[in-house]
Amino acid sequence: MTCSGFASAAPAPRPPETVYAKTCGYCHGQHVAPIIRGRGLPVDVIEQYVRTGPRSMVAFRPTEISDAELKALAKWLNASKADPKEKGE
Ligand code: HEC
Repeated sequence: MTCSGFASAAPAPRPPETVYAKTCGYCHGQHVAPIIRGRGLPVDVIEQYVRTGPRSMVAFRPTEISDAELKALAKWLNASKADPKEKGE
């Protein structure tokens, strides 16, 4: 990494694994919410859940998860394999 004076406005998008582990994984996979990995959930359904937070889920704003991060996260979840260590609600 180079030091080029002031940082640009938007931080680099975090990888989906990181976003999931930090932001989703403490509910999903921890007896609190349904398993969402390994189910091939549609990308648009995932994006909608994250932005609108229906029923007992929380919503996340673009300041918490950027659009680019959400896109990558939804794609990653859609293609992810189930983790046997995770437990559903
Ligand atoms: C505070 C706990 C919590 C966090 C954090 C959370 N969720 Fe959820 N989520 C829930 C609950 C509870 C439900 C079930 C909502 C319902 O339908 O009643 C849910 C449902 C979902 C569903 C629908 C699952 C299905 O079976 O149809 C998706 C997709 C989802 N969450 C994605 C995410 C993603 C992606 C993140 C991280 C950005 C996240 N959630 C973070 C609690 C959480």
